[in-house]
Amino acid sequence: MDTVLLKKGFLDVETDPSLNIFEEIKKLKKEKNAVLLAHYYQENDIQDVADYIGDSLGLAQQAARTNADIIVFAGVHFMAETAKILCPDKKVLLPDLNAGCSLADSCPPEKFAAFKAEHPDHLVITYVNCSADIKALSDIICTSSNAVQIVNSIHAGQKIIFAPDKNLGRYIVEKTGRDMVLWNGSCMVHEIFSLQKIVRLKSQHPSALFIAHPECEKQILDKADFIGSTTALLNFTINRKEKEFIVATETGILHQMQKASPEKTFIPAPPDSNCACNDCPHMKLNTLEKLYVCLKYEKPELIIPEHLIQKARIPIDRMLELSAKFGL
Ligand code: 13P
Ligand code: SF4
Repeated sequence: MDTVLLKKGFLDVETDPSLNIFEEIKKLKKEKNAVLLAHYYQENDIQDVADYIGDSLGLAQQAARTNADIIVFAGVHFMAETAKILCPDKKVLLPDLNAGCSLADSCPPEKFAAFKAEHPDHLVITYVNCSADIKALSDIICTSSNAVQIVNSIHAGQKIIFAPDKNLGRYIVEKTGRDMVLWNGSCMVHEIFSLQKIVRLKSQHPSALFIAHPECEKQILDKADFIGSTTALLNFTINRKEKEFIVATETGILHQMQKASPEKTFIPAPPDSNCACNDCPHMKLNTLEKLYVCLKYEKPELIIPEHLIQKARIPIDRMLELSAKFGL
């Protein structure tokens, strides 16, 4: 089984089609004292069976405080890595180890180390969407929930490198007025929205509010009525009296929006081509079946070398301390 697992990145075990997989997952979680943490971009069935659904910050905070023996992370690799770094003594499982992130991939450690060396007097603030190696090269981690406050908390004279997302970086520069050096990375999902189609959709739905994740490009963000992390977008749709929302982020979040406000209408912002490319192909590698076998056999497990855990933990702890200070 391990050889196949190593090759494929997930356990290729057939599940009995007559199995009530939701009940089996619930049973296994209880038996094994396992907690299932899921990101909003996971498929609906995984969200429905999760113990906690959240954005990157919420998921890291949950991982840091759980009493479970096993964390099953339904999300992408860098998120599960963050959980392992925060809980090195727990078993952290990821249903499919291939669930990567184009943004994290856009920042290879050797190139980033050279970039950092070119700016020796800069503080390195890094978006959590990066590998453990990049975290180990950073001073403070942030997420889209706390990035503006974290940058604002740094004294005005301090020069800053922001990596890896240039779109989020540019948005923070606009919000804080800080002149940061940006790494040239981006997310494949948030860069595909069509401005023309969004403008057309807005004219067809004049009372709809247009909301966007800060990983979107500037011309999209400039049109947005509200910009925020996935949790902030969800809360915005709950708290506003408007009944229609055009949503520029990965489509998985629409499930929680619709559940929280069944009387409202949520329209995914359209991509440039007629593809489903506002679905994150990495997030969607996890399936309910892979999740079930992963929990049953406790594989694949995320392993990170101890020295890397120690280094990468420092900037993550700084983020969690600052977030607690900001009341996030
Ligand atoms: P959030 O932190 O808003 O959940 O964003 C995660 C992510 O991967 C966005 O693409
Ligand atoms: Fe990475 Fe983008 Fe997918 Fe988020 S949506 S996990 S940033 S590729």
